[in-house]
Amino acid sequence: MKSMSIKVLLASTLSLFSLLASAGEKVPSQNTLDARALVKAFGGDLKHVLKTSMKSGGPIKALAQCNTQAGPIAKKNSTSSGWDIGRTSLKVRNESNAPDEWESIVLRQFEKRKAAGESLKTMEYSETVKDGDKLVYRYMKPIPTAGLCLTCHGGDVSEEVTKKVQLLYPNDQATGFTVGDIRGAFTLQKTNL
Ligand code: HEC
Repeated sequence: MKSMSIKVLLASTLSLFSLLASAGEKVPSQNTLDARALVKAFGGDLKHVLKTSMKSGGPIKALAQCNTQAGPIAKKNSTSSGWDIGRTSLKVRNESNAPDEWESIVLRQFEKRKAAGESLKTMEYSETVKDGDKLVYRYMKPIPTAGLCLTCHGGDVSEEVTKKVQLLYPNDQATGFTVGDIRGAFTLQKTNL
């Protein structure tokens, strides 16, 4: 009798867990499919601006572009989708991108998963969390460091770039990365489920 009730308790705990944590879901939910598509669109917009400004004006112009455009690009993608879309990192350049507690935990989990050999290409995490009496679906996907990123986020940043970064972001922490490192993550959320 006793073992029965433990079993029942365990089963209901597990089903509650699987309702709330959709990490590693076998069949992706509609929210996860939407989040993946939004990451592609947002990431594509950012890369486009970065690449064209680097090409036309070099890193100093590109820095200025990132400084003024990253926010509006996130806002545009958020407004058009009804989601809250942004980027965060354990080492931020712009302090307004600093992670909240949930994001810090996920970022540290990503580092652990990477260290255990998992590919960043397919890595993601999603969970439905409670915020007061609302349910919020949250999704994160790591952003790998590519060669292109090192000009402004690497370990050997030029004096010119360092000066400009310091001017715009006196508390910058976002250097010292090498190719393949997790530079940060896309972070998305949707309320009103
Ligand atoms: C021309 C310089 C430059 C290059 C190249 C560059 N970034 Fe950045 N990055 C910036 C600036 C400036 C910010 C701060 C933007 C802001 O104010 O929101 C930033 C912010 C970020 C953030 C948001 C978190 C934070 O630290 O504030 C991530 C993530 C990021 N960059 C990833 C990348 C990746 C990945 C690449 C390569 C594909 C890259 N960056 C290339 C200048 C650059």
